[in-house]
Amino acid sequence: MPNKLKVLVIGGGGREHALVWALAKSVRVSEVVCAPGNGGIAELARCVRVDAGNLADVVRVVEAEQPGLTVVGPELPLSIGVVDELQRRGFRAFGPTQAAAQLETSKAFAKEFMQRHGIPTAEYAVCTTLDEVREKLQRFSVPVVVKADGLAAGKGVVICNTHHEAEAAAAEMFSGVLLGVAETEVVLEEFLDGEELSFFALCDGKHTVPIAAAQDHKRVGEGDTGPNTGGMGAYSTDALMTSELRHWLTTNVAQKVVDGMLAEGDPFTGILFCGIMMTQRGPMVLEFNTRFGDPETQALMMRLDTDIVDVFDAAIDGTADALQIKMRAGASVCVIAASGGYPGKYPSGKVISGLAAKGDTEADVFVFHSGTSVSNGKLVTAGGRVLGITAVSPIGLQDALAKAYAKLGQISFDGMQYRRDIGWRALQKE
Ligand code: AMP
Ligand code: GLY
Repeated sequence: MPNKLKVLVIGGGGREHALVWALAKSVRVSEVVCAPGNGGIAELARCVRVDAGNLADVVRVVEAEQPGLTVVGPELPLSIGVVDELQRRGFRAFGPTQAAAQLETSKAFAKEFMQRHGIPTAEYAVCTTLDEVREKLQRFSVPVVVKADGLAAGKGVVICNTHHEAEAAAAEMFSGVLLGVAETEVVLEEFLDGEELSFFALCDGKHTVPIAAAQDHKRVGEGDTGPNTGGMGAYSTDALMTSELRHWLTTNVAQKVVDGMLAEGDPFTGILFCGIMMTQRGPMVLEFNTRFGDPETQALMMRLDTDIVDVFDAAIDGTADALQIKMRAGASVCVIAASGGYPGKYPSGKVISGLAAKGDTEADVFVFHSGTSVSNGKLVTAGGRVLGITAVSPIGLQDALAKAYAKLGQISFDGMQYRRDIGWRALQKE
């Protein structure tokens, strides 16, 4: 057995709470540090301040802590090259390099990459001016999808019912009205119809190991209505993906990405999160993320039955071909409790009641914190998404949902909102 490790997690949301929770259970971990962490993470890990979007500040924390392993949660630090810089300094870091993270940080790069490597995806056109948008729109029927090239936290995709609407959306992206920063590239994309699926795979630069499928709920309102959010809930079940589909996605999507990135000189290491649309023409890629999802990770970590340090090690050491990632049979679910007003403006500092003082000790229910902090000894809201009430069940989704909603019923804060229909598509099929 190798020496026990000190592990540093970069990030401070529900995804990082779930990663910290899994690390805290590992027999291979001596200490978990999280930068910056949040009110819930502080119960499991020592939290240290960091500006995770500032390379020099992240390096400062890593140099001070000297962790045996650093795990980068969010896309922002990956996009500024945190993994490259840590590796250059001789630290072990989990996640893709800045160049490999382009699969997420540039939609134009991702689309062109998919075309080069024969990965199934919607027809598209990359445009750099509004005139080009007008001209290329003629090739697309409606609805048509308009996407900002860069990272946009779920706000960079507009589904348009007319060409006129599409032009207006592209104009808002170029001018900066939509996202606050002016885009230099806009992608037009064929609209795909079907059910969405998120497929997670571990990649070590050469090999790919499937982890599991999950489904998230991006819209704020029940029945998938209202504006997009970072995700109001997610679930993971065995039934979401047959073994044939898992094999197909591993071979025709994830391994093709790994082979393509290796061939182009930027091997991909880390989590490949494939957003898939199950269309009548077969599964097609909507987008890639190059990290764990939030809130999918909360649901996935409760099903994970392999030591998470073995998972990170296999990716860094290039030995993922010898790793099998085991997931507990059955289902897990995460229901987000959000601040009133989210995804628009919302208040902070609302006192949260109904949580046990030290997290939750039931083995099959855990409340992961997304946006919380401790103020005057009280746990208060500190974000749009506040808590992720997560449950796992060997019986199935219905049982996991019952446990999560029962727990949620005990929790309250002023303005709390949540969706009562997480998992509805899967339940309809049961
Ligand atoms: P993305 O950030 O590219 O995953 O897009 C966010 C969401 O927009 C997806 O999860 C889909 O719900 C929707 N979307 C993106 N691209 C398309 C497309 N080509 N057709 C239909 N819906 C799409
Ligand atoms: N839940 C979607 C994401 O993490 O991007």
